[in-house]
Amino acid sequence: MIKTVTTTPYSDQKPGTSGLRKKVPHFQQKNYAENFIQSIFDSLEDFEGKLLVIGGDGRYFNREVIQIAIKMAAANGFGRVMVGQGGITSTPAASHLIRKHGAFGGIILSASHNPGGPTEDFGIKYNIGNGGPAPEKITDAIYARTKVIDSYKISDADDINLDQVGLTELDGMQVEIVDPVADYAELMETLFDFDAIRQHIAGGFRIAFDAMSAVTGPYAKEIIERRLGAPEGSVRNFIPLPDFGHHHPDPNLVHAKHLYDEMMGPNAPDFGAASDGDGDRNLIIGKGIFVTPSDSVAMLAANAHLAPGYASGLSGIARSMPTSGAADRVAEKLGIGIYETPTGWKFFGNLLDEGLATICGEESAGTGSNHVREKDGLWAVLLWLNILAVRKESVKDIVTKHWAAFGRNYYSRHDYEEVDSDAANGLMDNLRNQLSSLPGKSFGDLKVQAADDFAYLDPVDQSVSKNQGIRILFEGGSRVVFRLSGTGTSGATLRVYIERYEPDASRHDLETQSALADLIAVADEIAGIKVRTGRSEPSVIT
Ligand code: G6P
Ligand code: ZN
Repeated sequence: MIKTVTTTPYSDQKPGTSGLRKKVPHFQQKNYAENFIQSIFDSLEDFEGKLLVIGGDGRYFNREVIQIAIKMAAANGFGRVMVGQGGITSTPAASHLIRKHGAFGGIILSASHNPGGPTEDFGIKYNIGNGGPAPEKITDAIYARTKVIDSYKISDADDINLDQVGLTELDGMQVEIVDPVADYAELMETLFDFDAIRQHIAGGFRIAFDAMSAVTGPYAKEIIERRLGAPEGSVRNFIPLPDFGHHHPDPNLVHAKHLYDEMMGPNAPDFGAASDGDGDRNLIIGKGIFVTPSDSVAMLAANAHLAPGYASGLSGIARSMPTSGAADRVAEKLGIGIYETPTGWKFFGNLLDEGLATICGEESAGTGSNHVREKDGLWAVLLWLNILAVRKESVKDIVTKHWAAFGRNYYSRHDYEEVDSDAANGLMDNLRNQLSSLPGKSFGDLKVQAADDFAYLDPVDQSVSKNQGIRILFEGGSRVVFRLSGTGTSGATLRVYIERYEPDASRHDLETQSALADLIAVADEIAGIKVRTGRSEPSVIT
């Protein structure tokens, strides 16, 4: 039976950089999830009888909301839903399912790299038929709807058994529970030279992949250990846990420090990697060397032709604005397009659909290609493995040769988390007010060349996205960027992105923070970070 339930709107359901994210207790408020899901459906047209993919990263509250989403999809007229077994599907695998099965769209339950558990984070986002995050036009419509919604539709049928693969029916809608790994693993086999990687591993190449007790565990077990033959134990923390074992499933140098320490130690494997809560981020560390995400996208693009899926070359590269310019130099050398977008994978969708870009990357540990419409952690790992297997060089050699050929973009991000929102907004307003007076000013050796509030004109649909971050560009290619995170769930997070270009190979082995010290000081001088936030140092440096 389909029920129509009366509800009252919530005023705080504005989707952020990647969907709606709140603490679990917030989501557990009466009808909170239902209101948002109904607002998604109310913002879409012509999905009657069509397929909806529903996936989640397995975090606390995942199963409950999957049941709600299934029952609401049935009540709203979808013909079929496809759900990963156990309610689990990595974000890139969900994107692939949407594309492969011609779904109308998908609902992905995740708060990505944020912690999980009864008092931690949860999230819901909607992906469109190309497999990518809904563009702003749709997220704006969803938000507008959440503010006025007065009822939602739901089936009162019993819960579906999410653990049993197979086809069932719920109020006239087909429910298909699928193995979430199979289609994805098959796709990876078409892109990469599994034989070459297998041989390289058989020859003694050692891998440490940390799934961080999150969704990539089953994917990495199947692909890296079973299909590529890495010894058991190469994939660690491979059982997805609702609270990620009390850890932040964020593959960075803070939350994956154990892996970093191991990779810098005497007994380091040849290749270390990790992924985040929902499987779309990646961390790459070679023996004795961390590869920054900005460098990684540049190096993957420069070597992608070594993998069968990219043997015919790339059409273009896209990166988010705060991501370093390392990829730009690769694009220039390859003679292909380079696109600079606002933060958020959704901005790559049009470029990928139009064939303008093949590989995309973000400083926030996201890399991906046109094989899906999400960033893809395991894809990045496999492309690195493919390149390493073909070049038969260490990560360190590949990185240092790349710098020698292209120059090095020293890069770091300083995060100030849970800052008072008014203080953070005040800091950004103050920067905006300085934009016109900064150009021409000198700070020590650094002279400001230009300063702006980044705006993006989408070359495909001509949509404009304003206020995407303050850029202060210095002569010589250095820059500082300021923006407020769109993915946090408490207070504001100020991100300061610092970059310096160094063409001289004899200066490529400096320690990053000291190489950037003068820019870090100037960033504080211009923005008044310490004074305005009351913080003497960043909460996280990556
Ligand atoms: C998510 C998005 C990314 C984005 C990242 C950082 O992971 O999918 O596209 O780069 O969040 O966003 P933030 O607004 O927190 O800097
Ligand atoms: Zn993620």
